[in-house]
Amino acid sequence: MDNTLAPTAANIEPGKAIGQPLDRVDGRLKVTGGAKYSADMPVADVAYAALIMSTIASGTITGIDAREAEAQPGVIKVITPANALRLPTQPPSPGGKAARPQERILQMLQDPKVLYQNQPIGVVVADTFERATYAASLVKFQYDEKKPRTDMDHQKENAYKPEKANQDPTDSKRGDLSAGMSQAAAKVTEYYVTPVENHNPMEPHATLSVWEGDHLTVYDATQGIFGVRKVLSETFGLPADNVRVVSHFLGGGFGCKGSAWSHVVISALAAKQVGRPVKLVLERRQMFGMVGYRPRTEQHLQLGAAHDGAMTATGHNVHTQTSSFDEFVEPSATATRILYASPNAETSHRVIRLDAGTPTFMRAPGEASGTFALESAMDELAYALPMDPIALRLKNYAEKDPDSGKPWSSKSLRACYQTASEKFGWAKRTPTPGSMKTEGGKLIGYGMATATYPTHRSAASASAKLLPDGTAYVQAGTQDLGTGTYTVMTQTAADALGLPPERVRFELGDTRMPQTPVSGGSQTAASTGSAVQAAGRAAKAQAIALAVADTASPLYGLNPDAVDVTAGQMFSKADVTKGETYTALIARHNLPNIEAETQSKPGTEKDEYAMHSFGAVFAEVQVDPDFGEVRIQRIVGAYGVGNILNAKTARSQLLGGVVFGIGMALLEETVPDLRTGRVMNADLAEYHVPVNADVPEIDITFVPETDPFVNPLGVKGIGEIGITGVVAAIANAVYHATGRRVRELPITLDKVTGLA
Ligand code: MOS
Repeated sequence: MDNTLAPTAANIEPGKAIGQPLDRVDGRLKVTGGAKYSADMPVADVAYAALIMSTIASGTITGIDAREAEAQPGVIKVITPANALRLPTQPPSPGGKAARPQERILQMLQDPKVLYQNQPIGVVVADTFERATYAASLVKFQYDEKKPRTDMDHQKENAYKPEKANQDPTDSKRGDLSAGMSQAAAKVTEYYVTPVENHNPMEPHATLSVWEGDHLTVYDATQGIFGVRKVLSETFGLPADNVRVVSHFLGGGFGCKGSAWSHVVISALAAKQVGRPVKLVLERRQMFGMVGYRPRTEQHLQLGAAHDGAMTATGHNVHTQTSSFDEFVEPSATATRILYASPNAETSHRVIRLDAGTPTFMRAPGEASGTFALESAMDELAYALPMDPIALRLKNYAEKDPDSGKPWSSKSLRACYQTASEKFGWAKRTPTPGSMKTEGGKLIGYGMATATYPTHRSAASASAKLLPDGTAYVQAGTQDLGTGTYTVMTQTAADALGLPPERVRFELGDTRMPQTPVSGGSQTAASTGSAVQAAGRAAKAQAIALAVADTASPLYGLNPDAVDVTAGQMFSKADVTKGETYTALIARHNLPNIEAETQSKPGTEKDEYAMHSFGAVFAEVQVDPDFGEVRIQRIVGAYGVGNILNAKTARSQLLGGVVFGIGMALLEETVPDLRTGRVMNADLAEYHVPVNADVPEIDITFVPETDPFVNPLGVKGIGEIGITGVVAAIANAVYHATGRRVRELPITLDKVTGLA
């Protein structure tokens, strides 16, 4: 079949696949172009859809003229709010909020309201992509336009207190912040601003919808197939079993593919309305508004410390934006609650509704923007004291979670500071800004910051089958964003089953497979990995149970605990020469396979322990003193993230996170025209992401860390921590180089030279 994976045989000690730098099992398919992404799936008789997007940010559609578009060759249907299939769904209302965090309030051509710029307001279906796209450009809309609210700065009086900051409490308080500030010998009171940023995965959002009667199959570029199934089945009023969602490969996600957005429903609606499979792939510029973004934040930091550096006060108050009709809250202050042992700490999140699309999770939502502010302010506090920035952090090292008082399940941050600072050569730094220069006169800056991300886990299921040919077939309906899920699950299953990884075939990405959570919140290894391990162990236990009860087996009569398996050979631990293979056992019993399906879910461990990853990031920059150009020379990071399932793919995750941090620090910014709400840089020519020339040597170390509490695999999740801390480390290095403190991202030339 298509998309079949072939793990490469590796020279791996039996039972020790976990941790090995195994090549990606999907690597060959990908580099040969054989991997079929959602829009590549071969479906007969497919028609092509092109969306029509709103050109105003607020108002009502009063007229639609589709005649010219309908007359074009190849056009099958022009679908607008005037003629779209009616869905059993209510239109969104102002001040609304989706019922669950992974679900969004959608725009599905059901009503004439325009709620944001670049909202889908129509879709053209044609026999080719080009014909659909051209015809879409010919549909004329008239609007009754309202002046949009586009500017957070002028809406602060309308800020409200949301029920939650993402999944966490909106506010927190321990001790007395103002008392702590008045005790302080050194203080920092500043605002930090992060702009709107858009996810730009290489693969755009894409949905291919196929109806057969009242059964719907969608091939969707999604981080959560079961979430998409739920949205589609509820929207179309179908039982969940009537909807199948498939997602074999993703070309990146970063959070924007974590929810089902409007185009997913529109694709299925169009397919139903025209009676043909419909493929809908978003253009890059259509991804600026309707599929989420990292919202703007304005963060007020108040830090105070005694002469010896002991912090007396930590205040972090966040303003951020959401849409007029739905709520997403960027939880920028949550990391501040747990990072330093300050006795007086208050945090809050307030939200302002704007006429824009709904923001969403974007790699380390909250921690990426929040650690920029907190870790920049910590650097400012270090200068105000003055004190070495690492010494300041060690002075305030939190030996337990300062907010909840719970012990950490594990924490290796001290080792991270030490390892990274030694590898970086922090001791060579002279603290005075502008005191280090290259021979050519460039200003050298060294900066550091703390990285952190919480550890998440959800219930997940998996199945494992031992087959007569000595291989195994393992399934979990999870997703691979490009992170290496296929590979690490293959390794995990191999060790659990007692097979080498090249004899394990792992499949994912289909709602017909056992249910798993969204691949978000860096939880896939912890959640799905634990389930895969449990399923593998259960299948192995069944085989052993069958053998010890079988008079024809050399293992007959042994206690199951006295038997183990390596490379498919079951053996007595007391006498390793005694045993037989899975293959022999299955053949003798004439079984099609030995199969186990298990669910694995978190217990009460989070009631007892605080669970977070930590790391330390160091950056060296060179700054041109005349032009303000910042070039990053190197980044050194050390991370305590629990057990590492694959040394190669894990390092790649951290590299990717650091590169994302470089983009956030220096390049990324979505620029709205505040008069119209229109994004002025909705393409990769104008929205800058780092290219190879922007990315220096990146040195990643994993500090050995054993965590017996987080989950059975002892993994902490590595998809997101890599971006955290990087931005502040760079901003702090720019300050060290230039004496200029940039508190509004991105750090562009004009801000560094003071011309901004
Ligand atoms: Mo991640 S932002 O939780 O996909």
